[in-house]
Amino acid sequence: MPKAFSEKRYESMSYRRCGKSGLKLPALSLGLWHNFGGVDSAAAAKAMLRRAFDLGITHFDLANNYGPPPGSAELTFGRALKSDFKNHRDELIVSTKAGFRMGPGPYGDWGSRKYLLSSLDQSLKRMKLEYVDIFYHHRPDPETPLEETLGALEQAVRSGKALYAGVSNYDGPRTAQAAPLLKGLGVPLTIHQPSYSLFNRWIEKDLLDVAGREDVGLIAFCPLAQGLLTDRYLKGVPKGSRASKKHGFLKKDRITPEVVAKIERLDAFAKARGQSLARLALQWVLRDPRVTSALIGASKVSQLEENVKILTDAPLKEDELKKIDSLLG
Ligand SMILES: NC(=O)c1ccc[n+]([C@@H]2O[C@H](COP(=O)([O-])OP(=O)(O)OC[C@H]3O[C@@H](n4cnc5c(N)ncnc54)[C@H](OP(=O)(O)O)[C@@H]3O)[C@@H](O)[C@H]2O)c1
Repeated sequence: MPKAFSEKRYESMSYRRCGKSGLKLPALSLGLWHNFGGVDSAAAAKAMLRRAFDLGITHFDLANNYGPPPGSAELTFGRALKSDFKNHRDELIVSTKAGFRMGPGPYGDWGSRKYLLSSLDQSLKRMKLEYVDIFYHHRPDPETPLEETLGALEQAVRSGKALYAGVSNYDGPRTAQAAPLLKGLGVPLTIHQPSYSLFNRWIEKDLLDVAGREDVGLIAFCPLAQGLLTDRYLKGVPKGSRASKKHGFLKKDRITPEVVAKIERLDAFAKARGQSLARLALQWVLRDPRVTSALIGASKVSQLEENVKILTDAPLKEDELKKIDSLLG
């Protein structure tokens, strides 16, 4: 029998409404892109999932291709669900996606109805679930009609294999097109998953406004810029860090002297506020209520424990936000 989860798990996390839907997400959600694949320690992965849930993190984000190898993060997650979360399915928000290359041939990539619906079935099998809470189209497809892709999301919801529909990596104009189209099909676009961090502010151009206007919640991925917005790379590339790993998506050449100088300035500012840079970066992403959740990754339990401390950190004031802008310059 697995150890019971903490009875206090809902006491400190804050849950934020996703757009104007009934769905609430924890301020911090956990993504399984790195460190949950077949190449990673299953015990470490399970420990992180368990600790996350104990800390009130109810939302776990996956995609068909997370691994490596592709699909293995869903297998890891499915096994942990079976062994440790059996009686807690109704307390979890599980998401998955399709849209990047997953299989060979013309039906294993992009945004056709054929690919999306077969991929969702495969994801459910790997996780041994009857439904996911959120099913996303992972990236825009320049060739498939948007109506077809969105029709597949609608069918996923109508069939009961997904409860909510989402898109990821769509720009402002495409999101402005997608939201009313999906609504016209009778299924709201509940959530959008864009990248967003102190180092990557593209959504401020128009997506934030579109999401606010269309009542679409935003969940910001890579809020720590894959670990750059932490103290991880202040003294080179440590062993075991994402940038040190062959299959890691953070490449060493991103850690330029200019980037390190910015990290140092932000780190000093965070320290003066009495917090770590990771916490400052997460608070910053969540300062706008249109951002429902910050979707973090982790390689160890201690990172989760550190990051949830934002729940008691002092909110960022206007003059502090201005100062942060100047430090980024
Ligand atoms: N929709 C999309 O296209 C898309 C694309 C990318 C990601 N995502 C989603 O977003 C999730 C998060 O992405 P991400 O992992 O890149 O997010 P992230 O939160 O920006 O980076 C996570 C990494 O930061 C480091 N870290 C976290 N907390 C730390 C702390 N307190 N102190 C020091 N280092 C800390 C760890 O690096 P180390 O591993 O080096 O310890 C961790 O693996 C993914 O799992 C996935 O669900 C979606």
